[in-house]
Amino acid sequence: MATTSRIVRSWTILRNCRRSENGIGYWRWHFAWVYDTMARMIHLIQRSAFLFAAILAGTAVSSPATSQSKSETVAGDAKRGAYIARLGGCKSCHTDTKNRGPDLAGGVALKSPFGTFYVPNITPDKETGIGGWSTESFIQAMTDGRAPDGSHYFPSFPYTSYTRMKRQDLVDLKAYLDTVKPVKQQARDHEMQFPYNLRVMLGPWKWLFFQRGTYEPDPKKSASWNRGAYIVTGPAHCGECHTARNFFGATGADFALAGTRKGADGKPVPNITPHPKDGIGGWSESDVEFALKSGMMPDGDFLGSSMAEVIENSSSHWTESDLKAVTEYLRSLPKRKTP
Ligand code: HEC
Ligand code: HEC
Repeated sequence: MATTSRIVRSWTILRNCRRSENGIGYWRWHFAWVYDTMARMIHLIQRSAFLFAAILAGTAVSSPATSQSKSETVAGDAKRGAYIARLGGCKSCHTDTKNRGPDLAGGVALKSPFGTFYVPNITPDKETGIGGWSTESFIQAMTDGRAPDGSHYFPSFPYTSYTRMKRQDLVDLKAYLDTVKPVKQQARDHEMQFPYNLRVMLGPWKWLFFQRGTYEPDPKKSASWNRGAYIVTGPAHCGECHTARNFFGATGADFALAGTRKGADGKPVPNITPHPKDGIGGWSESDVEFALKSGMMPDGDFLGSSMAEVIENSSSHWTESDLKAVTEYLRSLPKRKTP
């Protein structure tokens, strides 16, 4: 009996997804990376062919200068960095609020289907925190998901979104973290199930699913729309919870912010695109701003679970113009159905 209902359920999910309004099939959702990998291999072959031809022709191939060279970076501004930490919601994971733990000293247990992560200490303590780190090591962790020793971080640390952050924002954020009270507190080792405990597995995962790169503003859109897009997809990492993940735990652009029936804790996370039925199409602009500022929804109920932490540690501290920018961006999203 149970088996029959499971088969019927799976079939319904498959059928609904295959004909989804988002115009992407179920299998393509889970296996889009196969196409992606093929495209990247072809690109690699083309590039090596080009290099080979260039060497034969005896021309020196110089690599293009990076847009932001290290020497351009202005010194970090800790006050500005404190606000960036609010945009990024670092406190939600790195401060053990439930046990009144010291600010940013880690220790929080993050449960996931793959095991439990114990969030590390990011205070400037030299032994147990990140006190000995250079700004470059910090930027590498945030944008490339790699530790100073070169090992990979699990994407439970949302560097998959932080990679979009501007260099100056990260420099300021590091300057702020340097001013936090150092706390000696060693984080416990993660308790992951085999094979997820193997960090080397993260190399191939990142190659397939992790898109590095700073947010590129869209010149056709307004400055405030671009600010909103930057905050949502970068520091505020809304998609880490509001976007469904495929079999491999990766989020895809086709379902961005369209909610998921099964979030990290197994519970659904709502759709925040303007879809009239599945999303928040019925909310006005001031409804969205007010909910992010105060946690109160248009029906008078308060937002709970992990969103309550996002509001408390992050969006309730944002400036009016950032709240407006985020709302403008959310309202402009395609109306996506929840997968
Ligand atoms: C969703 C939870 C979450 C949020 C939000 C978060 N982190 Fe983390 N962070 C983690 C986890 C989990 C790890 C450990 C990853 C691992 O061990 O692979 C980590 C690791 C780190 C590390 C590496 C520390 C070390 O000792 O190697 C740094 C630096 C860091 N986070 C900084 C930040 C900053 C700055 C912010 C805010 C902009 C932030 N994190 C927000 C979960 C989070
Ligand atoms: C740590 C996970 C997490 C992050 C990050 C997160 N959210 Fe949420 N969000 C949730 C959950 C869970 C709910 C449902 C809360 C509830 O049921 O009370 C929610 C609810 C909402 C709602 C109400 C939707 C509705 O239909 O009730 C809005 C709007 C929202 N989030 C916007 C955002 C925005 C904008 C961001 C980024 C700035 C964001 N969220 C980041 C987990 C998250």
